Amino acid sequence: MNEKIEIKHQGKVYTPRWIAEIMINQFSNTDLKNARIMDPGVGSGNLLVPLARRLALKFRETRDKGYLKSLSELHAIDIDGDALQVLHDRLKQSIRQLLPTYTFDFSKHILHANILDQLRGQKENSFDVVISNPPYVKYSNIPLEDKSKILAAKFKLFTRQSDLYIAFFEFAINSLKVGGKLSFITPSSWLRSAYGLDLRNYLMKAPTQFSKGNLLALYDFADHQVFEKAITYPAICCIKKIKYDQKRETPKVYLYDGKSFSQKNCLGIDGGKWFINSKPNVLKISNYKVNDLFDIVSGIETSANSIFITKKSRDADNNCRECVFNGRTFLIEKPLLKKILKLSVLKDGKDTHDRFIIYPHDRDGNLLEESFLREKYPKGYEYLLLNKRILEQRYKGIISEKDWYTINPIKTLKFYNGPQVVTPEMAKYPKFQIVDLTDSLFTSGSLILARMPFPLEKILSIFNTDRMAEYIKETSQIFRESYYRYSKRYLGNYPIG
Ligand SMILES: C[S@@+](CC[C@H](N)C(=O)[O-])C[C@H]1O[C@@H](n2cnc3c(N)ncnc32)[C@H](O)[C@@H]1O
Repeated sequence: MNEKIEIKHQGKVYTPRWIAEIMINQFSNTDLKNARIMDPGVGSGNLLVPLARRLALKFRETRDKGYLKSLSELHAIDIDGDALQVLHDRLKQSIRQLLPTYTFDFSKHILHANILDQLRGQKENSFDVVISNPPYVKYSNIPLEDKSKILAAKFKLFTRQSDLYIAFFEFAINSLKVGGKLSFITPSSWLRSAYGLDLRNYLMKAPTQFSKGNLLALYDFADHQVFEKAITYPAICCIKKIKYDQKRETPKVYLYDGKSFSQKNCLGIDGGKWFINSKPNVLKISNYKVNDLFDIVSGIETSANSIFITKKSRDADNNCRECVFNGRTFLIEKPLLKKILKLSVLKDGKDTHDRFIIYPHDRDGNLLEESFLREKYPKGYEYLLLNKRILEQRYKGIISEKDWYTINPIKTLKFYNGPQVVTPEMAKYPKFQIVDLTDSLFTSGSLILARMPFPLEKILSIFNTDRMAEYIKETSQIFRESYYRYSKRYLGNYPIG
């Protein structure tokens, strides 16, 4: 095959050394110890060989055998057998130079194969580290035979007429364990193109599966050409596979100016496309509604606040707090009480009343057994029992009678630890603010949870605007003393941008 055809149909363009260094630096020492490592589309090893050298040097420096373990777990795949031969020789030579007394059988995990044939028997969730400069091949240039393999594979990210590199993303993501990371260099087109949408959604939206993606870093070369033989607009990205309920970290984004990278403030989103702001401190999001980018979670509702939530309380002794409910004082066991913030009375992010809620649930929101409650927290149980008649009226017909003391059987009760953006339910004008919800529940308002990791200050700048005030005035009913409702129903359709 001549070189031009190899570039066009197999994307054979090798990675320069300095770019390999940036890509390898995305992995911490911990990531690289005792790790199963894979390079799909490895070629002659411009990424895998320096990565192997890094492992060997780390072992020499620390004597930590975790690095040796990783050296024996280097996996590589390519369709080009000649390139794989070169890879094997390079690996052997460079590791022999650095660790002359050790022997590794690198051939064990070098696979001469088309990645599209590996999808069925693919070992999912088994790699800690994937590094790749995959082939960039436009859909129209992908060989017919490969197109039918793609069709049969029932990809989730390669859903449109995508570039072949999207299939490598999908292969890598499937291969990663939860907690594993990939470092890829590809054209930056997935940030903007229609065929990149499913990958972007994987990194931004709520997951439909057990895990989701977290973009940790993005290095955009803009229009600077870094590959000798091909014109591309590449970007390096580092993605971590995380559990569905884990909070995404904010990605670090960098832009190349022809000499070096400088860190920019944030990713911008415009009409579903992503871009890196060249101006720092500007986050541009447009053509979205709040519901597209944020979850709005309303606070605890008990339908009997005066029974569940303290007006006043103080420490009584090691075991109990003295709690005032409806003007009467009761001793309640401390583990049965949780802190709760009343968002309608917050001043500078604090509820000066130090409120508590009786919480007969576990941390996951499951209702505690009545017998357990009676034995473990007799005082709190007595108090609830005193109010049984009122409590059991609340969800009549919805729950079984034995659950009469539940806080709320319909809403999932959950803690949202850490600093969060919240709003009171009723307000005269937008009063979104950041509060620390560590070990604390909240009521009479909502929490604004970004699906994409936006800095909290940025969220405030989207919500605390005159435009938002006007919008809520127009859409929400007016209440006494010119109060309006800032709830999911009204906020959700607010157009951003
Ligand atoms: C852009 S090159 C990168 C090579 C090397 N990783 C590097 O960074 O220098 C892409 C590699 O993917 C290989 N390749 C192309 N299509 C492939 C496929 N369907 N399955 C496996 N490898 C493929 C090519 O042979 C080539 O070595």
